[in-house]
Amino acid sequence: MAAPKTRSAAKRPTRTSTASARASTAPARASTASARASTAPAAPTVPAWHVAPDRTKAWKRLTALARKGRSMDLRKAFAKDRTRGTAFSTEALGIHLDYSKNLIDRATMDALFALVAECGVEKHRKAMFAGEAINLTENRAVLHVALRAPKGAVIKVDGRNIVPDVHEVLGRMERFADAVRSGRWRGHTGKRIRTVVNIGIGGSDLGPVMAYEALKDFSERAIECRYVSNIDGEDFYEKTRDLDPAETLFVVSSKTFTTIETMTNAQTARAWALKRLKSPAAVAKHFVAVSTNAAEVAKFGIDTANMFGFWDWVGGRYSMDSAIGLSTMVAIGPANFRELLAGFHDMDEHFRTAPARRNLPFLLALIGLWNRDFLGCETVAVLPYCQYLHRLSAYLQQLEMESNGKRVQLDGTPCRWQTSPVIWGEPGTNGQHAFYQMIHQGTSPVPCDLIAFAHPLHAVGSKEGGEHHDILLANILAQGEALAFGKTPAEVRAEGTPAWLVPHRTFPGNRPTNTMLIERLSPRMLGRIIALYEHKVFVQGSIWRVNSFDQWGVELGKVLAKRIIPELSGTAPSKAAHDSSTNALIARYRAWRGR
Ligand code: F6P
Repeated sequence: MAAPKTRSAAKRPTRTSTASARASTAPARASTASARASTAPAAPTVPAWHVAPDRTKAWKRLTALARKGRSMDLRKAFAKDRTRGTAFSTEALGIHLDYSKNLIDRATMDALFALVAECGVEKHRKAMFAGEAINLTENRAVLHVALRAPKGAVIKVDGRNIVPDVHEVLGRMERFADAVRSGRWRGHTGKRIRTVVNIGIGGSDLGPVMAYEALKDFSERAIECRYVSNIDGEDFYEKTRDLDPAETLFVVSSKTFTTIETMTNAQTARAWALKRLKSPAAVAKHFVAVSTNAAEVAKFGIDTANMFGFWDWVGGRYSMDSAIGLSTMVAIGPANFRELLAGFHDMDEHFRTAPARRNLPFLLALIGLWNRDFLGCETVAVLPYCQYLHRLSAYLQQLEMESNGKRVQLDGTPCRWQTSPVIWGEPGTNGQHAFYQMIHQGTSPVPCDLIAFAHPLHAVGSKEGGEHHDILLANILAQGEALAFGKTPAEVRAEGTPAWLVPHRTFPGNRPTNTMLIERLSPRMLGRIIALYEHKVFVQGSIWRVNSFDQWGVELGKVLAKRIIPELSGTAPSKAAHDSSTNALIARYRAWRGR
């Protein structure tokens, strides 16, 4: 289905530059003169329908229900209602979501859906799809959905249809990816490109790495992709130590093209390449850029003909399907990349049109919110039973925690409720032999998203060992059962366990899980899964009434680090201008480094 026709945010105030918008809310310690300048934009108006959750009737109802939820016994709940497993399950786009093993009942779900209505989430969703500047602190539209809109769709920003721009960049990416994959794009000495090194961090790294790992089976194995992100030079060293610069292509990926990690790594890469390739002309064949900042790209020395652009209405952590996915496209090819985009779009349409009770992002968001705000769960484990998804939780950490790790509401007043939980996880079954002990018997409940695919990509196994995939799937299902239903002291005693050992061998159960059983991993399915989480984050942020699309919390550390760099390198005298702890650490470092 085509994306909806949308209108531009006609009444939107004039856009301010990112720099001034940033300055206006920079923390006091890091502030500059410009931060206090009189040019600061006026405070945005929060739409009246954006009601604070704790002002709703539904929130009060949920608060009353929480006591029952906390003492709920899933054994009894399943025994009482034989249809519970199917009643609290839904399926769309090849994703079967079973949320029945959460501490919910029909009254809870009714209240959660009432909360959606009272908090104006559907209006907010409409505003996002319509290109309104819902990123209020930066006065920007939030239109990652436009990145995967089909060609004929119309989505306007400031009165201009942006979909043709998206497809123009996609077309350029495709021509470039094809040239690299086919060997038509050659390095400076005429050799084929064997390794693509993406240099980027945060949203300019996590999505591409996660997708490369997830879709390795769909990738051109003759070209390897590597990812350098950390400012720690060991990252660059390890990723390049065995490479031939004549066969290496660097993709410098940075929305702003000012991020210190990426720019430092990119400068190092250029020096590394030129040391061996000798001629500055080699840069054109070995460096391309992905950015919104053409001026900085040119300043770095990359011809803007070799730059793939995107736009300020794409947040870094929502950008893996923009040109930031260039390394993904080189790896899996343009056709598979189109499939990935189609998967994102499938989920956008599902999110936009499916009734809330059958809407996967709504359901994941509401269950998560119930666990976080009413049952007091502080973390969520994402546990994919799929080795290809081994970077999924790292990716989701940024998506969820940078988006919703906020403590003030859209109007700047403190949140009177909890926001983003800590997201973490590792693939099953590895995690079972590491941290599941705590999930089963620890003192803090950890809701889990258990994710598995029905079909393996490779049927691996032997007659003696059995089929790996059946064993894998048996494990995920067993974990869901064990977490929900546990093992009572009576059951442990009945096994002949001595009395003193019974408490140690008892499993309390009632640990919440969602199980997502998905048909098969493919580029399209990956797109659906990622968009599912993107929209889950949207719904939660919308109810929590925070801006899910800014990230001021990362700024202070960046500013302070810049001040400390010359003090460490010895190019500036240590002024001992910090607190006594930081001063002593700087002095120790300098002494050990002989500075
Ligand atoms: O520091 C946080 C952040 O701004 C992320 O939001 C972003 O994904 C990352 O840095 C990288 O930014 P850029 O793509 O501009 O280099």
